[in-house]
Amino acid sequence: MKGVVLAGGTGSRLFPLTKITNKHLLPIYDKPMIYYPIQTLVDAGIRDILIVTGGRNAGDFLRLLGNGKGFGLAHLNYTYQEGEGGIADALSLAEHFADNHKLCVILGDNLIEGSIHSAAEEFRRQPQGARILLKEVPDAQRFGVAEIAGDRIVGIEEKPRQPKSDYAVTGIYMYDDTVFDKIRKLVPSGRGELEITDVNNAYIAEGSMSFSFLDGWWTDAGTFESLLRAGNLVAAKHRRAEVGRP
Ligand code: G1P
Repeated sequence: MKGVVLAGGTGSRLFPLTKITNKHLLPIYDKPMIYYPIQTLVDAGIRDILIVTGGRNAGDFLRLLGNGKGFGLAHLNYTYQEGEGGIADALSLAEHFADNHKLCVILGDNLIEGSIHSAAEEFRRQPQGARILLKEVPDAQRFGVAEIAGDRIVGIEEKPRQPKSDYAVTGIYMYDDTVFDKIRKLVPSGRGELEITDVNNAYIAEGSMSFSFLDGWWTDAGTFESLLRAGNLVAAKHRRAEVGRP
């Protein structure tokens, strides 16, 4: 399985922090934000990784990450998203890189406490379809929200006013190679973007979507509150590691 980190966008919710740099280069405690999702993929045994970025500061990713030596990688791949087409549009740029392999896609502003290793293993064994990772949250209306019936996901709503569950769809998605055909069939949403939630609903409609629950904390870092929260969570994790507590 190959990995894709989506690190484009204007980061408009973080203006003026993102006026002169890309959101994913901002600090989270002691590292730039993008280090965390890359490490999440590496920890899941993924060695072939593509960074999708965009905007005026794309060159800074190359200066920062180079060939990924700091993560024990032999090389890193990069591509550039023109404009603001949304998450699914950014993912469409990974088709050539994917070359019919399964993909684990992670949003560049998603941080987790633990590991996705076991979910990745389950998806490696899954013959086809997709797998998403869910997390129970107190503020589900900020995210894609999964409606679950028994052991099946029956639908996902993007930022619903009245969420049908407390299960947020985290920004970690595993797809087979039919994902690109599904993206080609999408139409832009009300905010003018190709939504990853519509991709996931296409898998749900064909009955090939599975899911896992994420252990440990999960946060995005795309708003002032969540950026601060992410830094505090990482700092607390460091402190626990220093005193040898789990
Ligand atoms: C995106 C997705 C949403 C998902 C979230 C996770 O939202 O559209 O479904 O729950 O990432 O971080 P965005 O942060 O782009 O608003």
